[in-house]
Amino acid sequence: MSVLIAPSILSADFAALGDAIGAAERGGADLIHVDVMDGHFVPNITIGPPVVKSIRRVAKVPLDVHLMITDPDKYLDAFADAGAAMLSVHVEVLPHLHRTVHAIKALGVKAGVVLNPSTAVGALEEIAADVDYVLVMSVNPGFGGQTFIPRSESKVRAVRALLDRAGNSAAVEIDGGIGKQNVARVVAAGVRIVVAGSAVFHSPDPERATRELKAAALAGLPATPVPR
Ligand code: DX5
Ligand code: ZN
Repeated sequence: MSVLIAPSILSADFAALGDAIGAAERGGADLIHVDVMDGHFVPNITIGPPVVKSIRRVAKVPLDVHLMITDPDKYLDAFADAGAAMLSVHVEVLPHLHRTVHAIKALGVKAGVVLNPSTAVGALEEIAADVDYVLVMSVNPGFGGQTFIPRSESKVRAVRALLDRAGNSAAVEIDGGIGKQNVARVVAAGVRIVVAGSAVFHSPDPERATRELKAAALAGLPATPVPR
């Protein structure tokens, strides 16, 4: 697997989401990352299923929906119906994470689990074989434009190692404070899905910013051995 770029529309102009998504796609976006916040799990409120449904109509690439809500189980159906191709849930709010992960898969959607910066990698020990991807938060969730927490780099390595031990080739995704200045390092640590909000949509040219981020991300991949 190469590296997938998932621009987060949280930092886009919500009055012109179609244009923002189009620009990111022209720049090579592989996914569109959609941040759902409820004002309870995180101190911010964003969007729900109707907006995801509208975005689905205009987006050419799959939607990666990140649920930052206290009761994701209640809304899995609604987000799957709205067109999410990937749904990620926070381990911090789910006492029955195994049930939730399998409920997402049963909807025909890729199931991701998310770790906040202060959540130990060990929280994934018993679910590592079951997940389709793991999202490592490299900022405390709630807002775009925050500073990358440096410890996240070693956390990515630890998550990769845990997945490998479980025999699961699931991708590691990173979210928060990523830009072309640090993306190669996290890719070298094992990230294969890169979320970026402000680095793309607060730039004067989101298409170009996406293209440059992708090029910088690919530079972090290990060199492919030359066949002899
Ligand atoms: C934050 C969200 C992120 C956010 C990232 O809680 O989960 O997806 O959009 O924004 P940047 O890339 O600006 O840190
Ligand atoms: Zn996110």
